Amino acid sequence: MEEKAFNHQVNKGDRFEFGKNWKSYLNTLTDEKIEIAKQSLIEMLECEDLAGKTFLDVGSGSGLFSLAATRLGAFVYSFDFDPKSVKCTEFLKEQYCPQSEWIIEEGSILKKEYVYSLGKFLGGITPYRKFELRPGEC
Ligand SMILES: C[S@@+](CC[C@H](N)C(=O)[O-])C[C@H]1O[C@@H](n2cnc3c(N)ncnc32)[C@H](O)[C@@H]1O
Repeated sequence: MEEKAFNHQVNKGDRFEFGKNWKSYLNTLTDEKIEIAKQSLIEMLECEDLAGKTFLDVGSGSGLFSLAATRLGAFVYSFDFDPKSVKCTEFLKEQYCPQSEWIIEEGSILKKEYVYSLGKFLGGITPYRKFELRPGEC
């Protein structure tokens, strides 16, 4: 979605601007909070690390969990339809792991063309895929 159209929907009250909150949240981000996010992924996914795995973060918001997954060794692909959230996530990458392969972009899970462009789960190889999503096996 273009930033102009997004802002119009926010101004009309049709959309909540998550990105605005995430930006101020980032000012309070500490290593301890990143570690807590990392631990919560370890518990939820029942994995000690995500080495060799792809982590797709749909609606990545601030990018905190994407950062945590990066630290756990995953190849991370984040997207959010809110341009400000995308900027926050890019900022996180720049601050904490500028050299990583972490991909960040603007996109909506409700846009069929966009979702198709991401590829297929379960390792199907398609000509339009950007990468192969591998289901997590711990
Ligand atoms: C509650 S926040 C969660 C952020 C993050 N995943 C986390 O757990 O901290 C929801 C996020 O989803 C995004 N979002 C909502 N609808 C979306 C859509 N259709 N496609 C992509 N992102 C969307 C919002 O912009 C927001 O950043």
